[in-house]
Amino acid sequence: MKIDRRDFLFSLVGTATLSVLSTSARASSLLDSAVAGRLASDPRRPQFHLLPAANWMNDPNGPIYFRGKYHMFYQYNPNGAFWGDMHWDHAVSADMVHWKHLGVALAPTPGGPDADGCFSGTAVVQDGQVIFLYTGVRSVAEAQATIKDGAHSLLETQCLATSNDPELKTWTKLPAPVIAAPPLGIAVTGFRDPSPWRQGDWWYMTIGSGIEGKGGAVLLYKSKNLRHWEFMHILAQREGSIAAVPEHQDAREVWECPEFFALGDKHVLIYSTSGKSYWMAGTLEPHAMSFHAETAGVLDYGSFYAPKTQLDKAEIRILWGWIPETRKIEEYKAAGWAGLMSLPRVLTMGGDGRLRIGVAPEMNQLRKPEQALDVTADDEKNQHQIDGLRIEQYSGEIMCAARRDAHPYELSLRGAGVDAEIWLTVKYDPLHPGQVSIDGTQLPVSLDEKADLELHLYIDGSVIELFVNKQAACTKRVYCPGNSAHDLRLQWAGKTSSIVNLSVWNMAPISADRLTN
Ligand code: FRU
Repeated sequence: MKIDRRDFLFSLVGTATLSVLSTSARASSLLDSAVAGRLASDPRRPQFHLLPAANWMNDPNGPIYFRGKYHMFYQYNPNGAFWGDMHWDHAVSADMVHWKHLGVALAPTPGGPDADGCFSGTAVVQDGQVIFLYTGVRSVAEAQATIKDGAHSLLETQCLATSNDPELKTWTKLPAPVIAAPPLGIAVTGFRDPSPWRQGDWWYMTIGSGIEGKGGAVLLYKSKNLRHWEFMHILAQREGSIAAVPEHQDAREVWECPEFFALGDKHVLIYSTSGKSYWMAGTLEPHAMSFHAETAGVLDYGSFYAPKTQLDKAEIRILWGWIPETRKIEEYKAAGWAGLMSLPRVLTMGGDGRLRIGVAPEMNQLRKPEQALDVTADDEKNQHQIDGLRIEQYSGEIMCAARRDAHPYELSLRGAGVDAEIWLTVKYDPLHPGQVSIDGTQLPVSLDEKADLELHLYIDGSVIELFVNKQAACTKRVYCPGNSAHDLRLQWAGKTSSIVNLSVWNMAPISADRLTN
């Protein structure tokens, strides 16, 4: 599925606002109880994913573990469930699973470099203080604009804010940007989403960009103090001409939200463009600061965009992504909420130099008692047991391992009652041992001949996050009709003797009111 975010994004700017929050409530993120009640009983609203109390969210911004707490910030529109007027909203957690809303951390400053929006960025710690680097946008004449689409002309500059608040609720901005313009001599198509990191005596920073007619690019900067930055070079860019890539024929392509980090014995670059997120892994020459990609892939084949990483308390690399809506704007505006955060995903480097993506074990605390298939030699008995497995109220987890021998099979997830609609179908065919089909989309896997196929799924309201052997991920949105949540069941087509194990857990909600408070 392809979402053209830029068209989508700018078609929304300036549209009439449908505000579900009162002015005073905006500041505190507390909802009117009638609105909260409606959101809390919406069967499509997730129960164990992080999302704002109401309204629109997109990219994760500046996730950071600080003073024993996980802080998550994200792109947020306080005016309703549609993109626009970007703020940074804030939530805190002790375990990356249970969250508390803390309200808006960053808001546009009238007359400031971020007067028309606080776009995406990063949080780092310098001398014990947390610092945000983010993109401020403001309307300017077209000649100075870095975003121009005919209807809008916005200047993107890189801004800095600091916090001395142990809870990170209050922020002080530098009045002027720390990078006021893109590098001279490069015809950029965009200039946003700064992502700094510390390496030796220097801070380095990537910025998402693109070169007119050529395609997406990542700019690399360096600094001694996070305040004065020097452009070094282009760290990575689309190879060849954009016109040669049928699915990316946008002459103004931008590689959004790039991030560069060490993982195992490699370096990884992630970036997002035209509704999909990608990774490259390879080596960094630390003196020249040049990156040589050796492998590449897609971070998620479904609805997942603009991810951002952090180190958890054990220094494990965690990836968070924005899971967008795939339903119509009118529908999510009317629902009063749009977008959610993915579950925390653990990134590791495989022995083959390719990325591995799993889900943080912290999620296991939400599991209710396991329902496990006791695989017997009797196909009918196995089918009977599978018929009895239930995911209640659209909230559960499934793990399935199956042999990749001579037999094809299909695993489907479907409504358990009269409404037996299929939510998702996974197909494996030994004629194509290097791929798995998810609702017809082929996900590549590279497995030893003897390795089982390992499927891991989380189902939550209207979202399914699926992982195949930690090598491929696919996030799907499914919108049930009606006003109540029902149960789901599994269906296996093919020989049940292929199944090595199959377990289902119902999942406990992370709050009593679907995080509306
Ligand atoms: C990615 C993105 C970023 C930008 C932000 C604005 O989804 O377009 O490039 O900073 O969203 O909300």
